[in-house]
Amino acid sequence: MQDLSATRVLITGGGIRIGRAIALAFARAGARIVVHYNRSEREAHELVKDLEQITPGHEAVKADLLHATARRELIPSLLRPGETLNCLINNASVYRRCPLAQLQSDRFREDYEINFLAPFLLMRDFARYCDEGSIVNILDQRVAVVDPSSSAYGFAKKSLRDATEAAAVQWAPRIRVNAVAPGLVLPPRGVAPEKVRRLLRYVPMAQTSSPGEVAEACLFLTRARTITGQVLYVDGGMHLVSPAMHELDEADYSA
Ligand SMILES: NC(=O)c1ccc[n+]([C@@H]2O[C@H](COP(=O)([O-])OP(=O)(O)OC[C@H]3O[C@@H](n4cnc5c(N)ncnc54)[C@H](OP(=O)(O)O)[C@@H]3O)[C@@H](O)[C@H]2O)c1
Repeated sequence: MQDLSATRVLITGGGIRIGRAIALAFARAGARIVVHYNRSEREAHELVKDLEQITPGHEAVKADLLHATARRELIPSLLRPGETLNCLINNASVYRRCPLAQLQSDRFREDYEINFLAPFLLMRDFARYCDEGSIVNILDQRVAVVDPSSSAYGFAKKSLRDATEAAAVQWAPRIRVNAVAPGLVLPPRGVAPEKVRRLLRYVPMAQTSSPGEVAEACLFLTRARTITGQVLYVDGGMHLVSPAMHELDEADYSA
């Protein structure tokens, strides 16, 4: 297994949930982690302590990715003499369902900024300021299906998939750009696990995927020297059989 001890990775939204699992998996592989957070300050600093038990050299950094200045400063602030980044995991996200006709422009802008503009600008800055490396964008299996009520979130994840492919071509061979598309992993915050269990009828493998499996997929793509521009689905086959998500019971699927 390829050792990642020369790798320093920025994981956005890395303090909790799936981002936390990615941070732990990369630290176990030998990488040094920059845990980005916005609101989860305590969790991010506790995670850094946990990571230090595995390998030394981790840190936590705060940035509200809705703010242009914070977005612009994030990657340059991490580059110091002798200290670069060679991996970026765009994991931070906001998931809010809304029927299209009820979408408000402010909310649309916010959701699109967090789910597309921020990760895209971080990709751009990684390409500008770092010599080489690997980017993994966390998408959603919905990029393969039509789910109108995922609205700005869904549009943004599809844009991020397109940007993944475009950047993979433009930045090769210096930087590889791939994506992981999870299905049902963790219920949105505040949503009961039973709601997710009801959706397992749409999953051929009839089980949720774990945060650890999403993390393993990120690790695989980071190590794969000749893989670029790919989307790896970690969804139990859900994207293959759910072409009509607009027929879902909204009450089942809402956050
Ligand atoms: N959960 C699932 O089952 C599932 C399914 C499909 C796809 N995914 C994708 O997998 C990734 C992780 O999912 P998750 O459920 O673990 O995510 P999550 O808990 O909904 O959000 C991840 C992080 O995004 C950060 N974030 C939100 N707004 C921000 C802002 N304005 N500035 C900076 N950071 C911000 C938050 O950081 P703070 O807490 O520090 O504020 C949060 O911890 C996401 O990209 C998601 O779309 C997840």
